[in-house]
Amino acid sequence: MIPSYANFGGKIHGGILLSLMDKVAYVCAAKHAGNYCVTASIDAVDFLEPIEVGEMVSLMASVNYTGNTSIVVGIKVISENVKTNIVKHTNTSYFTMVAKDEHNRPAKVPGLIVENREQVRRFIEAIHRKQLKQSYKHEAKQIKVPNDPEKLLELLKGERCVFERKAIVKQ
Ligand SMILES: CC(C)(COP(=O)(O)OP(=O)(O)OC[C@H]1O[C@@H](n2cnc3c(N)ncnc32)[C@H](O)[C@@H]1OP(=O)(O)O)[C@@H](O)C(=O)NCCC(=O)NCCS
Repeated sequence: MIPSYANFGGKIHGGILLSLMDKVAYVCAAKHAGNYCVTASIDAVDFLEPIEVGEMVSLMASVNYTGNTSIVVGIKVISENVKTNIVKHTNTSYFTMVAKDEHNRPAKVPGLIVENREQVRRFIEAIHRKQLKQSYKHEAKQIKVPNDPEKLLELLKGERCVFERKAIVKQ
């Protein structure tokens, strides 16, 4: 990790890692699909540990799941201090990539050949995450903000901000 990748705090910028992860996801998906692919979505990316300038970052990726036109690539990022050999696990995330044909339409991808228990685990976990994402999307759409000022105040109780009257009571 070179100095120009650092943020104001001197640690490696999260965007640099995301960009590397996206490129790796693309390579894995495109190689599997034998086609151009796009990133459809990225599961939550938690930055578990900061990465320092000078550390060596490695990204380990695998095709975990294949749908009809989509591919889920799991990526684990580790960072190594080359002087001390201390290795940190800094991120894990899952990228859903979609293969595209020459008309920019989603294109069918080859099914995954699942060869061992580890790959079975990854495939099944990907199915569960897909279901969780669908129910999260559904639940998120149901979020409604009430008009009743009493209910609003109840919902906002304990939150660390100051509400002006006009923000709560409709004029
Ligand atoms: C993602 C995209 C291909 C979906 O296209 P679409 O016409 O809606 O296609 P479909 O609804 O048929 O979905 C195609 C596949 O993508 C999956 N998909 C679509 N949106 C998704 C999302 N938000 N998360 C996960 N999977 C998604 C579908 O489940 C489907 O998978 P399957 O064929 O394996 O069942 C399209 O919206 C797109 O091109 N987005 C822009 C991508 C992009 O520019 N990325 C950043 C730069 S690379």
